[in-house]
Amino acid sequence: MSQPSMPRYTSIIFFLFLQLFFAAQPCHRTVTYAAGGGLWQLLQNSIGITAMHMQLLSNDRVVIYDRTDFGRSNLSLPDGKCRNDSSELVIKYDCTAHSVEYDVLANRFRPLMVQSDVWCSSGAVVPDGRLIQTGGFNDGERKVRIFSPCNGADCDWEEVGDGLKAKRWYATSHILPDGRQIIIGGRRQFNYEFYPKSSAPNVYSLPFLMETNDRGIENNLYPFVFLNGDGNLFIFANNRAILFDHKTNKVVKTYPAIPGGDPRSYPSTGSAVLLPLKNLQASTIEAEVLVCGGAPKGSFAKVENGTFVQALDTCARIKINDPNPRWVMETMPTARVMGDMTLLPNGNVLIINGAGAGTAGWEKGRDPVLNPVLYRPDDASGSRFELQNPSTIPRMYHSTAILLRDGRVLVGGSNPHIGYEFTGVLFPTELSLEAFSPSYLDPNFDDLRPTIVSSSASEGKNIGYGQKLLVRFKVTSKIVTDMVSVTMVAPAFNTHSFSMNHRLLVLGNEKVTVVGTSIYDIQVMTPPSGDLAPSGHYMLYVVHQEIPSEGLWVKILSVKEKYILVSTEMARW
Ligand SMILES: *[C@@H]1O[C@H](CO)[C@@H](O)[C@H](O)[C@H]1NC(C)=O
Ligand SMILES: *[C@@H]1O[C@H](CO)[C@@H](O)[C@H](O)[C@H]1NC(C)=O
Ligand SMILES: *[C@@H]1O[C@H](CO)[C@@H](O)[C@H](O)[C@H]1NC(C)=O
Repeated sequence: MSQPSMPRYTSIIFFLFLQLFFAAQPCHRTVTYAAGGGLWQLLQNSIGITAMHMQLLSNDRVVIYDRTDFGRSNLSLPDGKCRNDSSELVIKYDCTAHSVEYDVLANRFRPLMVQSDVWCSSGAVVPDGRLIQTGGFNDGERKVRIFSPCNGADCDWEEVGDGLKAKRWYATSHILPDGRQIIIGGRRQFNYEFYPKSSAPNVYSLPFLMETNDRGIENNLYPFVFLNGDGNLFIFANNRAILFDHKTNKVVKTYPAIPGGDPRSYPSTGSAVLLPLKNLQASTIEAEVLVCGGAPKGSFAKVENGTFVQALDTCARIKINDPNPRWVMETMPTARVMGDMTLLPNGNVLIINGAGAGTAGWEKGRDPVLNPVLYRPDDASGSRFELQNPSTIPRMYHSTAILLRDGRVLVGGSNPHIGYEFTGVLFPTELSLEAFSPSYLDPNFDDLRPTIVSSSASEGKNIGYGQKLLVRFKVTSKIVTDMVSVTMVAPAFNTHSFSMNHRLLVLGNEKVTVVGTSIYDIQVMTPPSGDLAPSGHYMLYVVHQEIPSEGLWVKILSVKEKYILVSTEMARW
């Protein structure tokens, strides 16, 4: 992969100075940021489909799909295959692909075949590394499909059949500590269910989704769902949230509405992340949720009348385990609706893609926001945002962004039309893939960048909970030992501006020792429980002065997971 030439930064001189300075001083955070605004790289001019849903798998390949009722895509199915689906709405006999597997390391893609409509669906990767995708539209609304990663070209989607009890269109999935997933909401579904199912009837009412439903417009679809460290789920829809115990079907806590009361969920689509989880050995974890952007109340109706209202420029942040939680408001450098929020390996958040006006929906967005914004959660309020360099490609409705193991962010999609439209429209269907490289990847920081040499969690060996983990790494410059950390990031299922199952854990109790010239060991403790880190694959990073190493795939697994042993549907764990 060729990297375009990098701009040089004067900050590097300053950097060296700071390093000398801080090497002699105990310090915690410094101003030695990887300044520079990041870099865009066009990876593929066309992958033949539009990247509307994306999931990175533990073999560094990304499963991407759009929908089967978009019309003919620009990519043929392999080996002359065609889909003959009498219940299909647009083209019943379709020889084009609506899903691809993108190989990050080789920068290549190949067509995959989905059988039923996967439009606006959800998914999660289960502990054995398979993607279990749930729901969709029309003949796909109750379907469950499985993609098992392979290293060759012989794996494809397997349709499990009607694995869901209710129609799940615009629902959110979250992986649970026992290896199942919970699927919450969807259009006109004020309930949730589990996959694999727990017991009949497997549909449980969730009045919160009814209460947050703005009649005729909704504003509560694709709820933002996060697993709290206590095993409960934080569920956000419209402009407020609950803490929910899915084992007893009880609301444990009700959070206030975000000041201003404007909606943040589809189609007034903002985005949200669970900020990095730290001090994992503490009895109560200070989990924080950050919700950014969206559209002011009434925007959707105004768009129908031809007025594109400016998007929200605020973020709201809340400590979800506080006795009296309240939203703290912050202002972004730009207004944004349909942005994607992605955790970066160093704990910062990238806000990327989207529009400055309008809402989600066909033809309903205007003013593409080409500049990503970086958010540094640990900085002082008022100085957390930093505008990044712009892309040249608008990424409007149905665009996506996910973190890759090497620290880049894969960006794709954008199709605000009912079918593929390449000409005569404001925002043509985007078939391209780009990568955004945050400035921590700048070669100027190579001497600060850790390289993982070996780890007790290397390939093939699972790590357990609450255990010591040793990572050996190399840094060519002199390191600042108390500015080294180890993070673990769960790859996300991204669609409609939300990254399901995305979480980052900062592994604590770190102890750094010098092993040899430029070689160090860091010992940390793995997360104490599956409530904090559900079993499965994570990308493990060593971070030094905000510069992350390339990630290492690790698998955390508990022998206690119920579904490893019990469920035949999950027997391949
Ligand atoms: C996709 O196909 C259409 C026509 O079938 C063509 O106009 C368009 O240029 C193609 N787009 C890309 C990016 O290949
Ligand atoms: C598609 O399937 C139908 C039966 O459902 C069949 O009648 C038809 O011939 C098939 N079309 C093609 C092109 O194979
Ligand atoms: C849209 O236009 C109609 C007709 O002019 C008007 O009655 C309605 O109030 C408008 N709605 C909004 C949200 O502006």
